[in-house]
Amino acid sequence: MALLEIENLVVEFETSTGPFRAVDGVSIKVDKSEVLAIVGESGSGKSVSMLACMGLLPWTAKVTADKMLFDGRDLLKLSDSERRKIIGKEISMIFQEPVASLNPCFTVGFQLEEVLRVHMGMDRTQRRARAIELLTLVGIPEPEERLRSYPHQMSGGQCQRVMIAIAIACNPKLLIADEPTTALDVTIQKQILDLLVGLQDKYGMGLIMITHNMGVVAETADRVVVQYKGRKMEEADVLSLFESPKSNYTRALLSALPDNATGDRLPTVSDMMFEPAPSGAAE
Ligand SMILES: Nc1ncnc2c1ncn2[C@@H]1O[C@H](COP(=O)(O)OP(=O)(O)OP(=O)(O)O)[C@@H](O)[C@H]1O
Ligand SMILES: [Mg+2]
Repeated sequence: MALLEIENLVVEFETSTGPFRAVDGVSIKVDKSEVLAIVGESGSGKSVSMLACMGLLPWTAKVTADKMLFDGRDLLKLSDSERRKIIGKEISMIFQEPVASLNPCFTVGFQLEEVLRVHMGMDRTQRRARAIELLTLVGIPEPEERLRSYPHQMSGGQCQRVMIAIAIACNPKLLIADEPTTALDVTIQKQILDLLVGLQDKYGMGLIMITHNMGVVAETADRVVVQYKGRKMEEADVLSLFESPKSNYTRALLSALPDNATGDRLPTVSDMMFEPAPSGAAE
């Protein structure tokens, strides 16, 4: 049984100019101990599709799917109390905007310990010890001091690491990491990716890695879904995707990487997208 199985997910937003379809029939499956990367340009519906799974979209969003199962449970039919037990504990998400996702009114320690109190029922001493352990794990120096800091007293990269600590606090079965390393410099990026993949390996966690970075895909993913304008363009295991991409869009994405570029000018996706596929390639 897959850990997460989504079929034909559609998300439409009510806007002043009528409905806008941000996700248009996407199907995704993630197994236990698997890393699925979702790639695609800005606005392709990567975050919206995952927020839809978590039930975290605003009321203006209309979410439908033929199937949305997590560990055998139907996410579309959860009561509020069932949802609260699963979301943030069994499925958790590292949000794309770390600074905006932390509450500015509470210390980092309070926010981290709150998750441990609500979901794990830990007492004060256990919470404090686990909070220090988590901050150490994500590479924050002087964790005891940092627990007393407010988000505005920390850098963007440190806030991102706190978000990661909160997301992994309860050893989730599925972790959705939405651009988890964008605010970090390269050495920390590598450290965080190793941490996530290490946890995934150690606890058999499913990991969905949303990223623009093909290097991150190559380094971490087992399978890749390529999204464009709310649609899934291609799905393949990571080696096949890099070696023999099937869709024109994936080829365009890969050719736009500086390492693959030939000539003076870096190709852009729109230059290449509508060139015919080589014979035999699926679109
Ligand atoms: N609350 C909302 N109301 C209306 N439209 C929205 C809302 N949230 C997202 N959208 C639209 O849905 C589309 C998909 O957005 P989404 O955030 O999923 O993109 P993304 O693929 O995650 O992009 P990025 O790589 O920049 O994070 C975009 O066109 C966006 O403007
Ligand atoms: Mg996004």
